[in-house]
Amino acid sequence: MNNALNQPQTILVLGGGSDIAHAIVRALVSPTLRTVVLAARSTEPITIAGLPSGVDVEQIPFDATDHAGHQSLVDGAAQRHGDIDVIIQAFGQLGSSVGDDPVAAAQLVAVNTAGAVSSGIAAAAQLRRQGHGTLVVLSSVAGVRTRPSNFVYGATKAGQDAFSTGLGHALHGSGARVMTVRPGFVRSQMTAGMEPAPFSVDPDDVGAAVAKGLRRRQSIVWVPGVLRLVFGLLRFAPDIVWRKLDR
Ligand SMILES: NC(=O)c1ccc[n+]([C@@H]2O[C@H](COP(=O)([O-])OP(=O)(O)OC[C@H]3O[C@@H](n4cnc5c(N)ncnc54)[C@H](OP(=O)(O)O)[C@@H]3O)[C@@H](O)[C@H]2O)c1
Repeated sequence: MNNALNQPQTILVLGGGSDIAHAIVRALVSPTLRTVVLAARSTEPITIAGLPSGVDVEQIPFDATDHAGHQSLVDGAAQRHGDIDVIIQAFGQLGSSVGDDPVAAAQLVAVNTAGAVSSGIAAAAQLRRQGHGTLVVLSSVAGVRTRPSNFVYGATKAGQDAFSTGLGHALHGSGARVMTVRPGFVRSQMTAGMEPAPFSVDPDDVGAAVAKGLRRRQSIVWVPGVLRLVFGLLRFAPDIVWRKLDR
């Protein structure tokens, strides 16, 4: 963040088509915002609805499983646009039916966990060099206690979350920061057609919570906030209760 109001000038989105990331970018719009870099798998042009016309959007190719390419991607964005104030790690797959397929399950880990680790380390190197900036990691409550119906996804998000919170501690004192975001059910492309879970929210609710968290320099943000309490209790619910709660 490079003004007194903590408003970003340059944002890099890893997973540039994500509904939640678009909502976060919208929530971070201010007169200071100049550039948004969308790093995405898709070669189709991506538009962020509601973004003012004065903001430049650059779209670059990105695959979460191209672990060897992540450092040069982040470095290249910084070389073209200068310091990056916010990097949003927003890619991810739900992988609903991978629980009985060893290869598909390992591929999900390669995207959601290994991709989060390689791109997170690349982002951290850039933010550390700058001495400022925040990596916003879209984790999930699914990783807090893994559910029988999507335990592989939950496991990938648990790995991403453990990495993210640990990285935040490792960066302490460098000026660079990590914000780990733990949404519950978000009504986005990822969950289209699914029945919303209790405490479900819209992407814009996540955007507002992240913007507020950045202003307050929070390291962990639950969306909605009540999930912190709910999962504080569910974490210790008896196994039989936990299995019954799973839909
Ligand atoms: N929606 C929820 O309920 C919810 C709740 C908690 C946490 N989250 C997390 O929030 C993040 C964003 O989710 P969302 O709801 O915004 O879903 P989304 O709109 O489906 O966005 C996910 C993005 O990840 C991209 N992606 C998937 N695999 C990729 C790969 N190998 N390389 C590069 N990009 C890849 C997708 O690109 P393609 O279009 O090319 O597939 C898509 O743009 C995810 O990490 C998700 O786990 C979501």
